[in-house]
Amino acid sequence: MEICKICLKENNKDSKFESYHDKCFRSVFETLKVKDQLPFTRKEFKTKKAREKSSRFSISGMQPKLSLKVYETHLETVETNGTHIIKLSPEEYPECSENEHLSMEIFRLMGIRTAECALMKLKEGENAYVTKRFDRYKNPTYTKTNGEDEYVKIHQEDMMQAMGISNEGEGKYDAKTYQQVGEYIFSIFGTIEALEFLKTVILNFCIGNDDYHLKNISIQSEKNRLTPSYDIVNTLLYAKSDRELGLYLLNDKDGDSEFSKDFEGKEGGKGYGFYTYSCFNELGKRIGLPSLKLVDKFYNDLKNKRSTITQMIQSSYLNEEHKEKYLEVFNMRMDKLFKPDS
Ligand SMILES: Nc1ncnc2c1ncn2[C@@H]1O[C@H](COP(=O)(O)OP(=O)(O)O)[C@@H](O)[C@H]1O
Ligand SMILES: [Mg+2]
Ligand SMILES: [Zn+2]
Repeated sequence: MEICKICLKENNKDSKFESYHDKCFRSVFETLKVKDQLPFTRKEFKTKKAREKSSRFSISGMQPKLSLKVYETHLETVETNGTHIIKLSPEEYPECSENEHLSMEIFRLMGIRTAECALMKLKEGENAYVTKRFDRYKNPTYTKTNGEDEYVKIHQEDMMQAMGISNEGEGKYDAKTYQQVGEYIFSIFGTIEALEFLKTVILNFCIGNDDYHLKNISIQSEKNRLTPSYDIVNTLLYAKSDRELGLYLLNDKDGDSEFSKDFEGKEGGKGYGFYTYSCFNELGKRIGLPSLKLVDKFYNDLKNKRSTITQMIQSSYLNEEHKEKYLEVFNMRMDKLFKPDS
């Protein structure tokens, strides 16, 4: 029995595609009429990418990616008006696509608003990562004269833009702390989004993503919210990190508060030398959450779903070695997070 390349659960026999539930496929691609495979090889993708490079339409970010459009009967790469984005695993990060897809599904399981995504085979069988764009939606009342749907764009800004940080210079993507970002989110959107942000920081810690920096946090002001989560990867699968998170947690990393000692593990401090839930609770208080009740609920939920997450990692499309490593990272982080209780 194949595992669904969207929800990572077993597929049933009567679905159209071997590796997708009909319902899952429809929710990402809005049709069952297209093929369950992308119409090009890695090499052809690279050629397309090179051709597009000089164009002003390319999507920003580190990984090679192209815009994809889902037409009624087929999928095609396009320069404008794409409905989806495809990313290939960079050569130096094998199975990054499988890793990102799994990490996104763990976020979704934990109730975080998360971009819809799927794994899909290239012509020669390698899995690419495909995500449905959350910055546009189909205009339900309008179809163009040529029969195509019309899409309405939702404006989004990443934290570099929103917080007015210049794109020049060193260390720019980590020019703020999570506290500063959280305070900013609280000030423009209030408690609910600040809580969503805090949960996202905690979960990134749990799955070993040290790449949750200012370009991977975005807002949609017209919707009064953060965008759904995107670009979530267990980066510890590829390199050891000495920092544990993409940004510093609190503003006083060199100060002498109890909490600073707690995670910095300084001489004479009473801390553990790594982040625990008390550090994230401190972040919650500082960014203005009136109560930590819902954060406690999130911790309980995380403990309750630990075995489900373990199961998801085991049934994912990563190879055995990567599964084992992913699980090791997840267990290590969960143990750190809850250490004071054990
Ligand atoms: N599902 C999506 N919908 C809309 N925009 C997206 C989506 N996923 C990513 N993006 C945008 O594309 C940019 C690059 O994508 P990202 O996944 O961060 O790639 P990279 O790994 O190269 O950084 C992001 O900074 C974000 O602005
Ligand atoms: Mg990114
Ligand atoms: Zn499914």
